[in-house]
This record gives sequence, structure tokens and C-alpha cells, in this order.
Amino acid sequence: MKFEILIILIVIIVVSSSTSLGTYLRTPRAPQPQQRICGGNFTAIGSKCYYIEKDNAQEWLSAIYQCSRMGGHLASIESVQELDAISKELKSNSEYFVEKTYIPGRHGLGENRQIEPGLQKNITGTWNYSYECTVINSSGRTGTAMGYLNRLFVCEKNEEPTQEQKQNIIKYYKKIGEKYYYIENSDPAQWNIAFHVCKDWGGHLATPRNELELINLSKILEPGIQYLIDLNDYLEEGQFMSVTTGLKNNYVSWAAGEPNMEFGVGNVVIEKTELGTYMRHVPHQYPYSYICEASI
Ligand SMILES: *[C@@H]1O[C@H](CO)[C@@H](O)[C@H](O)[C@H]1NC(C)=O
Ligand SMILES: *[C@@H]1O[C@H](CO)[C@@H](O)[C@H](O)[C@H]1NC(C)=O
Ligand SMILES: *[C@@H]1O[C@H](CO)[C@@H](O)[C@H](O)[C@H]1NC(C)=O
Ligand SMILES: *[C@@H]1O[C@H](CO)[C@@H](O)[C@H](O)[C@H]1NC(C)=O
Ligand SMILES: *[C@@H]1O[C@H](CO)[C@@H](O)[C@H](O)[C@H]1NC(C)=O
Repeated sequence: MKFEILIILIVIIVVSSSTSLGTYLRTPRAPQPQQRICGGNFTAIGSKCYYIEKDNAQEWLSAIYQCSRMGGHLASIESVQELDAISKELKSNSEYFVEKTYIPGRHGLGENRQIEPGLQKNITGTWNYSYECTVINSSGRTGTAMGYLNRLFVCEKNEEPTQEQKQNIIKYYKKIGEKYYYIENSDPAQWNIAFHVCKDWGGHLATPRNELELINLSKILEPGIQYLIDLNDYLEEGQFMSVTTGLKNNYVSWAAGEPNMEFGVGNVVIEKTELGTYMRHVPHQYPYSYICEASI
């Protein structure tokens, strides 16, 4: 009796394993999605490379600078699939800054949040801390948080400009030396708008790295107009950091009497004058012409 049961069991095991093996061998295997090698501090999630800051919550601008130092920017989430793939990697009960994102049906995070007045830096003339930034959580919900609140964040590795962006850069930008520049004279903007416009073009606000580059760039500027570049001291008064690299100690070429610190933190503009092209420190809240730069 026992022996028969054993035989039956063996038969069942052999048949079931052989059929599943047969099915396995006969089923053409789906091509494995190419696992990207991201390098540096980035890891692949889907087809993009991300860095998720899980420990050091920071204010929005500080998060931007840290992403820049790693060769990235705040993550741009373009689909519900991307949002869900990233959300799975996040800690629960935390919020993460990302690039401005709108995914239909996912909004709602932080809607009833009280503005914490104690946290609001109320030094008049500083960076506009009422700036609303996008956050996401581990349930794949999106929402907003004030830029002065400390939050975790998700960076995405900088990629080469897309083919379409390259074509537009060639078409609309002026090439000087190795760099391409786009001068926006007709539609002045506040810093955060200019920052996003340049990024959408596949570039960034211009960063003259030395005197020769500044002289080259000045050839295409209108005299007397102030143009925003990539430097500001929003994070630390008097420390002019490049948003593109996240680094301090950048090349500067101040006009006489600059940097003017009377109004607190602000942006840096360049202005072409009869004496040459020089930098000025200007208040943050006004719109300015600006210069985007790209390398392709
Ligand atoms: C990035 O990686 C380097 C080593 O490859 C490490 O020293 C650095 O701390 C990392 N940065 C962050 C923000 O994790
Ligand atoms: C994510 O945010 C939603 C609000 O939109 C909230 O109901 C949910 O509990 C949050 N998830 C986590 C894991 O914190
Ligand atoms: C902000 O300003 C108010 C008065 O306008 C003052 O009572 C408060 O202490 C200030 N808070 C900080 C953090 O400086
Ligand atoms: C300045 O422009 C000249 C002529 O277009 C170019 O040859 C040179 O490489 C440029 N220099 C820099 C530092 O960009
Ligand atoms: C700060 O930004 C908000 C929203 O963008 C705007 O309404 C407000 O006027 C700004 N405040 C200053 C002082 O620039």
C-alpha cells in the first residue's frame, strides 16, 4: 500500500516537473529589459537613473544643489509607471521633493497641511520661501510642500539632450567656441522660471567659467541689459553657488562696488557696459532677461 502511494507520488512529481520544464523550454523567453548601468551614486529604476536621498532631509534649493553635485537634477516624473516604480523604493511616512510633476489622479498629498509659521524664514528680501514645490510619497501620491520645509528628495541623472532638443539648440542657439547660447531678451522672467525654461531646452542657465568665455558671450549681449546667469547665493548669503554644478568658488567678474549685499540674498546678472562686461548681485524677486547655455 505504502509502496503504491510512493509510486503515484513519484509519477505525479515527474509528470508535473517535466511538463513545467517542457513548457519552460518551449516558451520563447521575453527579452530581458536592458538593466542600465548608471554609475556614480545612481541606480537604475525602469529606463532611467535615480538617486534617492533617504536620510538627509533638506530644503528644496539645497536638494537641487546636491543633485547637481552628483551630476543630476530633481527627478522629472513623466508617467504613472515611473511614479509607481520610484514610489516602491521610498520610505513610508516620508515626502520626497521631485521636479514639478502632475500625474492625473495622484494629487492629494499634503492638501491639509498647516503652514508651519515657525519654520518660515522671515528675513525680508531673502529667497521666496513661499515657493511651492512638488513632493511624492511611497504610496505614489503627489502633492506640494513649501520649499523652505526639509524633505527627502529624488535626483535623476543628467542625460544628453534628446535628438529633438539638439535640433532646437542648433536652430535657435548661437554657437560661440564650444558652447551654444540662447539669449532671452523679450520675455524677462524670475529665476525659477528661467531655470526651468533653460532645462526644458536641454541646457541650463549660462555659466561663464573664465574671462575668455565671458568676453565671447558678451559679443552677443545688448549693452545695458541685465541677464541672469547660473549663480546665486540663496542658500548662504555671499556664497555664490552654481546651480548647474552645485559648487562654490565660481569664476566671478564683479562690477565696481559689487557684490551689493544690501538686500540680502539674490541672483547674479551680467551686464555689458562701455568698460566691459561685469557681474552684479541683484534682488531675487524681479524678472530679468536671461541666458541659457548648452553643449551638444
Ligand atoms: C556618492 O558616491 C561617493 C563615492 O562614490 C560617496 O563618497 C558620496 O558620499 C556619495 N554621495 C552621496 C550623496 O551619497
Ligand atoms: C501618501 O499620501 C497620502 C495622501 O495623499 C496618504 O493618504 C498616504 O497615507 C501616504 N502614504 C504613506 C505611506 O505615507
Ligand atoms: C518673524 O517675524 C515675526 C514678526 O514679524 C517675529 O515675531 C518672529 O520672531 C520672526 N521669526 C523668526 C524665525 O525670525
Ligand atoms: C571664443 O570664441 C572663439 C571664436 O569663436 C573660439 O575660437 C574660442 O574657443 C572661444 N573661447 C572660449 C574660451 O570659449
Ligand atoms: C513669492 O512667490 C509667490 C508665489 O509665486 C508670490 O505670490 C509672492 O508675491 C512672492 N513674494 C515675493 C516677496 O517675491
